[in-house]
Amino acid sequence: MNDLINLFDFEAAALALLPAGTRDYYRGGAADELTLRANRDAWDRWQIHYRVLRDVAERDLRTEVLGEQMDWPVLIAPTAYQAMANEAGECATARAAAAFGLPMVLSTLSNRPMEDVAAAATRGLWFQLYVYRDRGVTRELIGRAQAAGCRAIVLTVDAPVGGARERDVRNGFSYPKDLPMSNLTGAGAQFSNPDLGEGGFVGYLNRMFDPSLTLRDLEWIAAETPLPVFVKGVVRADDARVMARHGARGIVVSNHGGRQLDTAPATADVLESIVQAVGPQVPVLVDGGIRRGTDIVKALALGARAVLVGRPLIWGLTVGGEAGARRVLELLRHEFDIAMALSGCNRIGEVDRSLLARAGELPPARG
Ligand code: FNR
Repeated sequence: MNDLINLFDFEAAALALLPAGTRDYYRGGAADELTLRANRDAWDRWQIHYRVLRDVAERDLRTEVLGEQMDWPVLIAPTAYQAMANEAGECATARAAAAFGLPMVLSTLSNRPMEDVAAAATRGLWFQLYVYRDRGVTRELIGRAQAAGCRAIVLTVDAPVGGARERDVRNGFSYPKDLPMSNLTGAGAQFSNPDLGEGGFVGYLNRMFDPSLTLRDLEWIAAETPLPVFVKGVVRADDARVMARHGARGIVVSNHGGRQLDTAPATADVLESIVQAVGPQVPVLVDGGIRRGTDIVKALALGARAVLVGRPLIWGLTVGGEAGARRVLELLRHEFDIAMALSGCNRIGEVDRSLLARAGELPPARG
């Protein structure tokens, strides 16, 4: 593992280890994968106009999102079925996140039960919610997350139906039958087996998840739980503003890592407009293609309070289980720390929009 010195190295190493179906499920996007690629490219198009002679000897990377403390501004994105990468699955990811002072967002579709993951995630666990057509199951998931000590609900809204995952179609990919969805118990137990019919993951999603969701459902969920509700999967300023009026305490700018609507915009290209639309009271997080410490600086400069990182943790798990996931976070934190110092920033609050410009342009004056 020592020869893997950045997150792209981990990706290449993991792709070489995984069987084709699992590999393509993890790495793939929808249709032509234009949005998947655009997410990465959009971070690269910004340049950082760093400041010098700023005494960056003592840096403090800590931050906070609605009371959740984190040692640096990253959360683990919810990704389903981590036990295909490593047997310990989400528990290993949670321990790695905690070791680096980060909260984790756990997918509804995790293999390890949320109680076990909560025990491992000693720096905080948030629960990502998919709304089942059966509202009893949905209510049970929320109640169980609360009881397990989860500190926020992240409601994913960009998957009313499954995206066109052509890699999965070609591979005939479906989740392994021996890995249950452990969060579905009680009323939901009947839905915990992925082997419920045709169409692999997307087939499951289309049968189980409610495509008729509206703002009323957001209001219902916000009323159902005292936990703050973040809405994940927003790419429009007008949508974000409306969500904030109907119960969302925070927004996650995301296009599901390019896995839902292909040709959706890159998150880096819409982030700033969403931050401006919702105002400073509503924290905005962002994910999609964050692979470098400099990407985190750019996201903060565009107004994000923190970022989420998805696939790189899966690559870490694949290569080395918990130790691999830790190494991925160690590399990313190191890069972020260097990027802060070289940008002339000691604290998260010092990162502002005047650091960024497109190639050939100058940044806006410091506001
Ligand atoms: C996801 N994502 C996701 N999102 C969600 O809300 N619930 C889920 O269960 C999943 N599952 C999932 C599985 C896999 C294999 C991937 C790659 C992604 C989306 C995820 O939370 C996040 O938005 C993106 O993965 C972020 O982009 P990067 O960091 O992977 O580029």
